[in-house]
Amino acid sequence: MDADLLAGIAALRQRVASARRLVVLTGAGMSAESGIPTFRDAMTGLWSRFDPAALASEEGFRAAPDRVWAWYAERRAGVRAARPHAGHRALGQFAHRHPGRLTVVSQNVDDLHQRAGNLDTLRLHGDIGADRWLSACPRGLGCSPASALPGAPPHCADCGNLVRPGVVWFGEALPEATWSAAESAAEHCALMLVVGTSGAVWPAAGLAGRARRAGAHVAVINPHASELDDTAHQVLAGTAAAVLPALLDGV
Ligand code: OAD
Repeated sequence: MDADLLAGIAALRQRVASARRLVVLTGAGMSAESGIPTFRDAMTGLWSRFDPAALASEEGFRAAPDRVWAWYAERRAGVRAARPHAGHRALGQFAHRHPGRLTVVSQNVDDLHQRAGNLDTLRLHGDIGADRWLSACPRGLGCSPASALPGAPPHCADCGNLVRPGVVWFGEALPEATWSAAESAAEHCALMLVVGTSGAVWPAAGLAGRARRAGAHVAVINPHASELDDTAHQVLAGTAAAVLPALLDGV
């Protein structure tokens, strides 16, 4: 780590120690060192190779359900094979040492924060491991997607309804209760760490500005420039797995 980064971490450790409430807002960069690709990094990001409109929208799914299902099946397998890294573990251990002080708000659809101990992580964009029906049941039966006939995608034997992954696609609303809890956490924290997000997707990105306007100190942790650098008081140019343990361990 270079001298600027070390000095930034040392200054921020004081704030971590004194903040009564902390929010850590994470994006795909948080999972990158666990081997899960980001969306917008040049070359390696998913959206440099795949079309978001075709793979992450209801229209795209309806147009080619088998193709979209297969893409999610591959990503699900990637998530299952991935392991939390030192940054996830530092957050999980901090929450364990300081019950009630830390809220993790994540745009990630993987479960790496949960597996590292942050069980109540607010997942703004859903859960890639969950299944749900594409449409409301026409007969109002309320049956579970687990009862669908296997297939790619699985479907209802009765009405033909398709099963889709439980993630938020473009054009869809965020889960309401999760979003309200994230807004409230952002507005009541003394410190927000923004880790591994480009800040390009709203409303999630807006949480940093809300925290700042409500009086929080905002620090970005990202090896590259992001759209939230100007919102932050401080930018730490390092990776999640390197910076978070240096910042949180022993505090
Ligand atoms: P992006 O792919 O847009 O941004 C990833 C960010 O992580 C970039 O700013 C990278 O510089 C940074 N990064 C890369 N490696 C890192 C590392 N090791 N440590 C820290 N940072 C690193 O991902 P998101 O901002 O999460 O939406 O994208 C937001 C949303 O866009 C996603 O939730 C997804 C996508 O479409 C949905 O699924 C609805």
